Amino acid sequence: MSFSQARDQAKATVKEAADIVQVIGEHVELKRAGNRFTGRCPFHSEKTPSFSVNPQGQFYHCFGCGEHGDVFSFMMKFHHMEFPEALKTLAQKFGVSLPERKLSQAEQEQLRLRDALYQANEEAVLIFQQALRHPQWGKNARAYLEHREIPQEYIEKYRLGYAPGPDQGGWQYLFDQLSAKGVKPAVIEQVGLAVRKDRGGYYDRFRSRLLFPINDMSGRVVAFGGRILGEGQPKYMNSPESPIFEKSRLLFGLQQHRQAIRQARRALVVEGNFDLLSLAVHGIENVVAPLGTALTKPHIHSLRSYSDEVVLLFDADAAGLKAAMRSIPYLLAEQVEGKVALLPKGHDPDSFVREQGAGAVDELVRAARPLAEFAFDTLVQEYGLTLSGKNRIVGELQQLLAEAKDVEQRELMIAHFSEKLGVSPGYFQGKRAPAPQPEEERVVRTNLSLKSMAPRDRQLLDFLVLHPENFAELEAAGMAEVVKHPLAQEMFFHMNRLSQDGACQPEDLLIGMADEVLQGYIVDLLTALPAHGGGESGESDRDMIDELLCWLENERQRRDGASLQQRIADAERSGNIELLMQLLHEKQTLQKKRQSI
Ligand code: UTP
Ligand code: MN
Repeated sequence: MSFSQARDQAKATVKEAADIVQVIGEHVELKRAGNRFTGRCPFHSEKTPSFSVNPQGQFYHCFGCGEHGDVFSFMMKFHHMEFPEALKTLAQKFGVSLPERKLSQAEQEQLRLRDALYQANEEAVLIFQQALRHPQWGKNARAYLEHREIPQEYIEKYRLGYAPGPDQGGWQYLFDQLSAKGVKPAVIEQVGLAVRKDRGGYYDRFRSRLLFPINDMSGRVVAFGGRILGEGQPKYMNSPESPIFEKSRLLFGLQQHRQAIRQARRALVVEGNFDLLSLAVHGIENVVAPLGTALTKPHIHSLRSYSDEVVLLFDADAAGLKAAMRSIPYLLAEQVEGKVALLPKGHDPDSFVREQGAGAVDELVRAARPLAEFAFDTLVQEYGLTLSGKNRIVGELQQLLAEAKDVEQRELMIAHFSEKLGVSPGYFQGKRAPAPQPEEERVVRTNLSLKSMAPRDRQLLDFLVLHPENFAELEAAGMAEVVKHPLAQEMFFHMNRLSQDGACQPEDLLIGMADEVLQGYIVDLLTALPAHGGGESGESDRDMIDELLCWLENERQRRDGASLQQRIADAERSGNIELLMQLLHEKQTLQKKRQSI
């Protein structure tokens, strides 16, 4: 029999033995529909199921994206495997023995190496588990686990282990143990369990550490995360990347928890290994943890196969916020519904669930806020709602939105953000000043008109449009706090953007102006006054700006006075005499200053 005949035969046998519903059902929630099964397509994003698996025909088909194939193509596409690996994996799973030597020399070599690496890790798990049970060696590690309230049952379930310290087994305990089991030094080194010394010989990478095995989706151990017992640096040490371990693709817990995630229709993402473990101990099993990195696109991609919703459960510290923000573009890109739940200050999920119980975590998760809202509020806190703050917020949001593939979702978010910021949606389109929009896309907000503006405010706005060079001075005097009309606010925002590219002429104001009402207003002003900025008007311009500045200053003092009055009332109510005295003194100073003007 020729090579290709033998391969075709093996393929046919495996295909017959493999249960396509079982294989796909491990990753996609399938429901029976007559003699087929349907679910949500793992190859494109959808809310309603258009993915169908046909057990009689042994194929799958997606009516949404057209993806189609048999059990092999599913394995290859879903797990990013080459055909030989898909064949071998399925053959193993369904107990079909494959004829030897059907792969090229290089492929076989590659497969053998990977097998050896898995094998080394599997042996290592057993050795680490044994060391954890060792009466003396494992004592501190067991005490540490008890201190962190991890019951024996969970130690077994997650196959936790202990790497003995140099004072216990020496510097190459694991290396020697593995070698005795026939694992080759090069394999031990390549999988990252030992490090080769410059002067020859090896030493163990993990020493005196508690070890968490990290599984791939078939349950094979591809790496370890090792935590030091108690204090010390580095706190965690993970296996290096290897042919079987790509850190940015793997999520700790996904293999063990995929069922729970599917049932809950929601995945919780925590930062730490112990966070994940503690939640599981308290019965919250729909949880995963990236391995010391921010969430990546492949992470989100693999989560998407199991759930509609991802809730980031992060510390409320700066690092937690940053981590949450960084994953937003990927959630948008993968069209996963993302939410954020922040823990109370000083807590991480581990300490929180141990102190408050699973119910409190459920509550936090239920109250998790949609990403768009969360992102916006975080940016407002960081930059403030001043004009330049808004400008930076728009810049940051543009970057986030650039990842959003779904046009409808993008539009919704833009509408949401632009309304909250009081700027035209057009600002979110371009890089800096957006290009003029095609006619039908121009924003017409019929409910907004300049007619409703107070005369004084209108006076300032007219002046500003005709003399944009005074923008900085008027802004510094607080005009954006005084003139609150939405269209004026939008004009200020627009001018602030333009002024960052250098001083501008009145005509420049039309560049990138996305609001139609304001466009018309600028044109009217510029065409109604044939000669502005002439030599003679220079003096009256100065008078005008002095008058405006004086008005703004008065307004500022009135605002300060009002807020001071409010604080005085608060201090009185709370009986804080010391504060009250101080505030009354401030009031006096303010009054004196006012009289002197
Ligand atoms: P944390 O320091 O927040 O972990 O790091 P934690 O789980 O709260 O730590 P303990 O055990 O409860 O004190 C979160 C994750 O970042 C990775 C680990 O995966 C850790 O679980 N990390 C952290 C590292 O890879 N290296 C480090 O030095 C620290
Ligand atoms: Mn912790």
